[in-house]
Amino acid sequence: MSRGTAIDLCYLVAFIGFILALKGLSSPRRARMGNIAGAIGMLIAIGATFGRAGLGHLALILVAMAIGVVIGVPAARLVKMTAMPQMVAIFNGVGGGAAAVVSITEFISLDTKLLATYKVLEVLFGVIVGCVSFSGSAIAFAKLQELMTGRPVTYPGQQFINAVIGAVVLALAVTVLVTSSTALLWVLLVLALVLGAIFVLPIGGADVPVLISLLNAFTGLAVAASGFTLNSNLLIVGGTLVGASGILLTRMMSKAMGRSLPNVLFSAFGSVVTATGTEGPEGRSVRTSTPEDIGVLMAYARKVVIVPGYGLAVAQAQHVAKELADELTKRGVEVFYAIHPVAGRMPGHMNVLLAEANVPYQELKEMDDANPQMSTADVALVVGANDTVNPAAITTPGSPIYGMPIIHADAAEHVLFLKRSIRPGFAGIDNELLYDPKTVMLFGDAKDTLQKLVSAVDAA
Ligand code: TAP
Repeated sequence: MSRGTAIDLCYLVAFIGFILALKGLSSPRRARMGNIAGAIGMLIAIGATFGRAGLGHLALILVAMAIGVVIGVPAARLVKMTAMPQMVAIFNGVGGGAAAVVSITEFISLDTKLLATYKVLEVLFGVIVGCVSFSGSAIAFAKLQELMTGRPVTYPGQQFINAVIGAVVLALAVTVLVTSSTALLWVLLVLALVLGAIFVLPIGGADVPVLISLLNAFTGLAVAASGFTLNSNLLIVGGTLVGASGILLTRMMSKAMGRSLPNVLFSAFGSVVTATGTEGPEGRSVRTSTPEDIGVLMAYARKVVIVPGYGLAVAQAQHVAKELADELTKRGVEVFYAIHPVAGRMPGHMNVLLAEANVPYQELKEMDDANPQMSTADVALVVGANDTVNPAAITTPGSPIYGMPIIHADAAEHVLFLKRSIRPGFAGIDNELLYDPKTVMLFGDAKDTLQKLVSAVDAA
């Protein structure tokens, strides 16, 4: 077998690893195995690439890999679960930038006059999409890391200006195609960076994670384009897998939020926080109680459904939530967790958190399985969730979340909210369920309140 065939075979095995990774990561039960399959695939791909004939600049490659490991390993180990979306954004942006740099380097190093038209098209695609992904991801990172406002940044004529810059980018691309001008390609690169930034500025709040998934898809496509430029099957297949899965994930996320993708990208959907403290708008107040009383209620319940949301992640309350569930189960109470597909700030956020606390998979019910059971629950314990249980999604046509499927916490006999105030969730709208006569609020950090509930159930 020739060296080339052996390397292609290794790449084939790597592709299978990547596909198994994507398959595995789509379910909490198989996610760990999926991760391992992907990592093994990547190791094989890197090893095979080192085996390629004529690989130059070995020392530089090793230095670059060492820098990547020194930055990547601690970042991945130390990142907080709540900061995961911005880490994905920045890593994704670097990937897009790298694809753009590869494309432009190839363009410069080859005799561009001799390059076939389709080769120049590949370069142009890699540069434009890679640059948009790079600068767009950098702005998304800055928004999520609160280095700038997380709200939509809008100004008069914004969409028109964006469209004009987009048209100039396209016109420049056509000119580069015809003239093969390297100088114009640099101008195009700068304008594509500007386009990425201004495309992302009007997207804010809860829409940023969807945007990151879309930019992730862009990076995949830019990598695939640079794979065509370099004649690398590895980059073509790897990039296409990232591009396709990113597009599917983006669609699934917008669907789970009850919004269309154009609406997410172009509606400048922002957060308008209206209420603070314990008094609602127009002075409406909510019912509160003590952990002791609620502990007794839960200890003698038949069925308790825990509905986790972003606040569970903020409070890092997953371990104590499991402690409470175990305590209740010991007393014969049936307990399960109802998981909304966009609870938290990234896909699978709640699954990952609860898996970290070793919650058995069979206790995690997807929204569609959980909802038919909500009316038979004595208690819906809403831990740091808000938008994902807000009935406005069903009852209020004009509401920004109208059409989003929700967990029907309101169908349970008692609804308990564990949050710090009556402030709205990410969508920035009030939640009528907080004022419902069957709702009781326990104000405070979710972890502290859950701890008090564990003691109260134990003492009941
Ligand atoms: P949210 O509606 O954002 O509500 C979270 C609640 O947690 C807040 O109301 C907050 O209330 C409470 N909270 C924060 N810190 C807390 C703490 N330490 N202890 C107790 N409570 C705390 O969360 P959700 O129900 O999970 O909904 C997710 C939102 O994100 C949806 O709007 C969804 O569309 C959006 N989104 C999600 C994704 C993905 S993929 N997950 C992607 C894009 C958008 P207090 O401030 O009063 O405590």
